Amino acid sequence: TDDQGWRIEIKKYPKLTEIGSKRVEGEGTEHSGYYTQEEIKDIVKYAADHFITVVPELELPGHEMAAIAAYPELSCKGEAGTPRVIWGVEDIVMCPGKEDMFKFLEDVIDEMVPLFPSEYFHIGGDECPKTSWKNCPLCQQRIRKEGLTADKNHSAEEKLQSYVIQRMEKYLATKGKKIIGWDEILEGGLAPSATVMSWRGESGGIAASMNHTVIMTPGGNGMYLDAYQGDSKIEPVTIGGYTTLEKTYSYNPVPDTLAAMGKGDYVLGVQGNTWSEYMYSEAIREYMIFPRIIAVAEIGWTNLDRKDYKDFERRINNAYVRLDEHNVNYHIPMPEQPNGSCNFVAFTDKATLEFTTSRPMTIVYTTDGSEPTAQSTVYSAPLTFTENTTLKIASALPSGKLSTVRTIQVEKQTLAPAKEVEKTAPGLNMQVFDGMFLNVKDLEAAKLQPRETKVIEETRALTAQTPSPESMRGVKQYASVATGYVNIPEDGVYYISSDLEEVWIDGKLLVNNGGEVKRFSRHDSSVALAKGLHEIKAVFLGHIIGGWPSNWNDGSIKLRKEGQDKFTKITGDMLSH
Ligand code: ACM
Ligand code: ZN
Repeated sequence: TDDQGWRIEIKKYPKLTEIGSKRVEGEGTEHSGYYTQEEIKDIVKYAADHFITVVPELELPGHEMAAIAAYPELSCKGEAGTPRVIWGVEDIVMCPGKEDMFKFLEDVIDEMVPLFPSEYFHIGGDECPKTSWKNCPLCQQRIRKEGLTADKNHSAEEKLQSYVIQRMEKYLATKGKKIIGWDEILEGGLAPSATVMSWRGESGGIAASMNHTVIMTPGGNGMYLDAYQGDSKIEPVTIGGYTTLEKTYSYNPVPDTLAAMGKGDYVLGVQGNTWSEYMYSEAIREYMIFPRIIAVAEIGWTNLDRKDYKDFERRINNAYVRLDEHNVNYHIPMPEQPNGSCNFVAFTDKATLEFTTSRPMTIVYTTDGSEPTAQSTVYSAPLTFTENTTLKIASALPSGKLSTVRTIQVEKQTLAPAKEVEKTAPGLNMQVFDGMFLNVKDLEAAKLQPRETKVIEETRALTAQTPSPESMRGVKQYASVATGYVNIPEDGVYYISSDLEEVWIDGKLLVNNGGEVKRFSRHDSSVALAKGLHEIKAVFLGHIIGGWPSNWNDGSIKLRKEGQDKFTKITGDMLSH
């Protein structure tokens, strides 16, 4: 269960699945689905037949928006809502001031317990904002009645969260279940028999020093399998982070401090988390899980003195052959360019392209437009080009299987001349249009008059307009187009990057994120520019694609001059009209 969908049939509360299992995405399509109790039994049995125990997680008291959409009276204010259509943490949560809320959770548990024979039952407990409890008379009454007073470590509302967890712990104990909760359950007093999942770093492992069992799953230490495993400029979009196979393998689940205290045995093991909000298909889900999950498994059962990454790396090539037998779409590191991979490389005299991989791999390529194979030319040193070329490049496994093939256009250009402009004023001209547009074509077809025209100092303003119509919670439904000049500091080839819908320079569409999740653009480009003023046009569309609201971006456009390491934002002093 989560904010974005309720996924299990509960017979006593049919609206959980009728309403809570469905959401209309920002794109307008319905996303829905849940497991019937019979299907759950089937999965649990199939897993048990393979020596796997399925542990359910019933999120509470936060991450419950899907249930609240079905039964609004479960929240403090009882406002009508829908399952959350965007990612991130929802601030509408369950109301522990209401006795009926506990009744609801107990009823749900009553139907779940017979389906899951596991010893453990996960009650979530993470990411529960406390603002609605602060303002809720019933929650405040509960705080007073139960004597949940703030102390120097915890607010009264954090104590209220612990009250919820401890009540659930007691209830589940009557069903013979032990609870697991995310490390937030430490805030406000730990339930006596709880197992803690340490996800925000390793500090939740502190529970082991209090003789509680813990499961280590720190995101920063390679246990979040939803993080990037290569360059964000070419990999499928993710929530962020960077977790190579080596990083996952190198995690030691028993922190030295616990080992030194003799509490290492309280570490039950590790977990690799695969939050699937950015995994838009089964294929991508497999790509994110494999091969890192094999490293998670191995660190779970291997003593430190037997760990050997080099040997693991060798063996993983054999594991790939086995995964191929099961048609698993595992990740193969792609050839990447230092300082940001780019599929369009402009040059004036010659281009030298260097490639690396996130772990040692053979790289093969062609320059005649043909698809590379494992037998194509092997990359051994940076490639130099003096003519227009289509470079196709991939990594190759010992089995002969290739990674995703990258196609890179290499193009000879002359420096685009600067514009002679008599008089300019600071900033860009921006037009704002009302409405929600999924793509530029629809905006153009609408032939709208701008709601507003004004000068903006920075491109940040593109995503930060206060709109009148908002058809989805907090998501700005408008389009903005800014035009003017950008002052290029010196002659050269510039790489350009932005999460906006489009960026044009001198009438050329350079960055086109059309149809993409506007999170980490995979559409950088490059262009040869003379020092001086160049026409620039930037387009923002306020919409939700793939659960990501485009107005969560800062509107920036970034440049990196060839030869430099870093992108820097175009600043207001470079803009004029
Ligand atoms: C979590 O990633 N919110 C446990
Ligand atoms: Zn309340």
